[in-house]
Amino acid sequence: KYEGLALTPPMGWNSWNKFACDIDETLIKEIADAIVESGMKDAGYIYVNLDDCWHGERDSLGFIHPDPERFPSGMKALADYIHSKGLKIGIYSCAGYKTCGGRPGSRGYEYQDALTYAKWGIDYLKYDWCNTEGLCAEGAYMTIRDAIRSAGRPMVLSICEWGDNQPWEWGKDVGHLWRTTGDITNCFDCFVDHGTWKSWGVTYILDMQEGLRQYAGPGHWNDPDMLEVGNGMSVNEDRAHFSMWCMLAAPLIAGNDIRNMSKETLEILTNKEAIAVDQDPLGIQGFKYSSEDSVEIWFKPLVNDEWAFCILNRNETDKEFVFDWQKEKVIDELFDKKLDTQNKTYRLRDLWKHEFVGTTDEPLKAVVPSHDVLMLRLVK
Ligand code: GLA
Repeated sequence: KYEGLALTPPMGWNSWNKFACDIDETLIKEIADAIVESGMKDAGYIYVNLDDCWHGERDSLGFIHPDPERFPSGMKALADYIHSKGLKIGIYSCAGYKTCGGRPGSRGYEYQDALTYAKWGIDYLKYDWCNTEGLCAEGAYMTIRDAIRSAGRPMVLSICEWGDNQPWEWGKDVGHLWRTTGDITNCFDCFVDHGTWKSWGVTYILDMQEGLRQYAGPGHWNDPDMLEVGNGMSVNEDRAHFSMWCMLAAPLIAGNDIRNMSKETLEILTNKEAIAVDQDPLGIQGFKYSSEDSVEIWFKPLVNDEWAFCILNRNETDKEFVFDWQKEKVIDELFDKKLDTQNKTYRLRDLWKHEFVGTTDEPLKAVVPSHDVLMLRLVK
């Protein structure tokens, strides 16, 4: 694994959630332009990642080529374009003979593919797990890690085996992030049954993060999958989804059509105060402090003894809420942090209203709308 990469959770965009297999070089270039023009780049979104289905065929020597109709200028030209915008480019492959979309996988071609990606100027590889019967996951991901190393170009390695082989236990030295679950789907509180597999809404994915925070840290992150912000949930739900991903120190990989997004979507994706929680240099994943009547309270220790705080209302109705900072005992035993509101007064910064709303000397009273959050930073 290349060290020194992904010291904070990677940020960028990926084609899959919105476009699936319908991608081409015009789309990717327009997205790169929009990342710069919309302010997403300034907010930290750097990686422009192609997901499945960019592939054409292997040639007689085994070298992979992009689909000649969809990427007629070739990958090197696309990478050059993206780099010229000050962005980085990611690509997708799979440990099996075929990708999940049935395109050529990297099995048996790991070193050759890594070399090809390095020649193209690729900066990030998402490596999937379809069609891998009989393979050992840890070994397969070590192989592509070593292949990238020997190709000589630093790349972020995104392990995508859906949490099936406990990647949190071995992923730290292999890749920079690992998926913890099956695929996300664009809804807040439901899942979709596809027959042989299921895809999961926001709250389902959130619940599946239980017990994993000890494995995350700078250079190695739990990945609860890419963002669905702007893909059709309500504004409240998108805000809650984004906030919780920030509390989880999750990779922030937007998955919407950022060439045409609403003002609300842009405001959510580029909320620099929320992003600062995600990107906090300590790299500590947040934890659920309490849960009652489907109202959850989350905390995340930040640098300089500051904290992020988030109330998530999972109910269909609005909820009134009181939190007495003087009575609660907030301790993060795993990372040895204690919120000391007895000896210190913190100011409460509302990260969505962008204003101070009180201090920890008085109980916090709030109404949290249905499927929404109240997200604060406790500022010294
Ligand atoms: C798997 C991954 C998804 C996406 C698709 C592409 O389902 O988990 O994120 O990459 O494959 O086919």
